[in-house]
Amino acid sequence: MDRIEKVVMATAVVLLLIFFGAIVVAATNYGVDLPTCVTDRKPFTEGSAPFKLSDQPLRYEAHTVARMWMFDPPEITIPPGAELDLYLSSADVVHGFYVEGTNINLMAVPGAVTYQRVKLDREGTYRILCHEYCGTAHHLMAGTIVVSSQAVEEQ
Ligand code: CUA
Repeated sequence: MDRIEKVVMATAVVLLLIFFGAIVVAATNYGVDLPTCVTDRKPFTEGSAPFKLSDQPLRYEAHTVARMWMFDPPEITIPPGAELDLYLSSADVVHGFYVEGTNINLMAVPGAVTYQRVKLDREGTYRILCHEYCGTAHHLMAGTIVVSSQAVEEQ
């Protein structure tokens, strides 16, 4: 083996030991830990059905949490023409949130909250699909948005 090769290999081993030592020191002396990928900010840690924003008519807010392999809540019901502030987070991996036949398209990213204002004028049931591969049951991950005039009486 060439002398330069030996020097390069020895330097690489020394650097690896220094980096490993730095990780051990950071973990034991400074409490540096692996970053968590779960959103820990309330109220985005759990899903909620749409609730009315008190100051304005037909204004709603809802929180959806995507997790393998469901949306929480699985069904969102709003009256037609309502404006819904939709906040989306993920409890595990990256998921997609696409509402068929609309321009509603969000990503559920661990550790982040994504947002879209949603307005659906036509009554009906809209399918929510996960459009980001998220594991073995990805193809089963779905939910619904129900736009119904009866939603006004319920809330
Ligand atoms: Cu969630 Cu694919």
